[in-house]
Amino acid sequence: MHIPVAPTAAPSQEALLGLFPPGTALAEDGGLVIGGCPVTDLAERFGTPALIVDEAALRARARQYADGLAARWTNSRVAFASKAFPCTAVYRLLAEEGLSIDVAGGGELALALAAGVAPARLVVHGNAKTEAELRMAVEAGAGLIVIDNFDDIDRLERIVTTEQPVLVRVTPGIRPDTHAAVSTGQDGSKFGLSLLQAHEAIARLRGSSRLRLDGVHVHIGSQILDTEPFARAVEAVAGLGSFAVYDLGGGLGARYTYGDRPPGVEEYLDTLVATARRALPADAEIVIEPGRSMVAESGVTLYRAVTVKDGDPAFVGVDGGMGDNLEVALYGQRFEATVATRVGGGDPYRLVGRHCESGDVLSADVQLREPRPGDLLAVPVTGAYCFSLANNYNGALRPPVVFCRDGEARPVVRRETYDDLLRRDLP
Ligand SMILES: Cc1ncc(COP(=O)(O)O)c(C=O)c1O
Repeated sequence: MHIPVAPTAAPSQEALLGLFPPGTALAEDGGLVIGGCPVTDLAERFGTPALIVDEAALRARARQYADGLAARWTNSRVAFASKAFPCTAVYRLLAEEGLSIDVAGGGELALALAAGVAPARLVVHGNAKTEAELRMAVEAGAGLIVIDNFDDIDRLERIVTTEQPVLVRVTPGIRPDTHAAVSTGQDGSKFGLSLLQAHEAIARLRGSSRLRLDGVHVHIGSQILDTEPFARAVEAVAGLGSFAVYDLGGGLGARYTYGDRPPGVEEYLDTLVATARRALPADAEIVIEPGRSMVAESGVTLYRAVTVKDGDPAFVGVDGGMGDNLEVALYGQRFEATVATRVGGGDPYRLVGRHCESGDVLSADVQLREPRPGDLLAVPVTGAYCFSLANNYNGALRPPVVFCRDGEARPVVRRETYDDLLRRDLP
């Protein structure tokens, strides 16, 4: 396994705070304060590990996306790619901010409906949607179903009795510079139809009496730190013809480390819309589906240091790990970290989890100031895909999710219990 190592000089407090949600401050005792809540109080009240979400930061990002796209292209919508944080409180909050929701499969569809998202605002995805899932989407009244393959067409033709709006997902042959596991738009991808196949699907759908072809969809991957591939993706779908809707997917990267320089939301939207002005019909609707960049930077995970082990490397072992953050093991994503009450400076440590694998690393080489057992540690930028990929490896209990805003902490998901681990077992 590749463990990402990026040794750096000890970070300043300012550099560290720059990775936390905007407005994160230091209390008089030096401890982090997120959404107005001292993290020491949060850890006391909710235990560790705990996923803390700065609610104001999340709402601000949702508005930045929605307002930013609407200002550039009036006939447009932002659909949150809910796989990045599939929790009913997040669905509800983003729906309140006026967003549509992208769901992949029956589970996310059920969660979105339970959260009260209007079915007409759902975009339903999946490269292997079962007949039951498609039926569920149609019966719920999903606004758009994205056709990924010819079997989707066959199944929908059988299920739909009145009319169902659909898009065709295209694989444009674009390989952005990101981890192979989260690159989806290259030739040979398991997602979508090649340009040639897409033409065939479009012709077939144009002849359908029940499936209403509204347009096309493209999504080239995740954690993309350059705008140029997004522009090429827009050009690729433009070449498929004139449609009412162009769904341009998600994929914008988040800033995880001091060195990351992802394009900002504004720069990303500038690129998409400038290309759309050249390439797409002026009256078409543009949909985008940000996931990671919507939620990553408003989340912070709190851990308790359990052990500090001298040596080369020196280890800090915490009470969580790959059970609550699989991004490191799956994609080699680098995270920074700090002792939550001594922010900035320090010496190099390998921050590791409590699971029975050497690959259970949270940060391979991170500067921590005088870490001791019992210290609280904070890992910023854990709002995307950490909740989604959380698991019970080694019987780990999945952490709670706590929204913080104006000094008020509101738990929205409780911690699992040992009883939860036993709940599905049959006698
Ligand atoms: C169809 C689709 N849209 C949007 C996204 C969101 O991508 P990201 O979280 O990188 O913004 C994904 C992620 O895999 C996806 O598959």
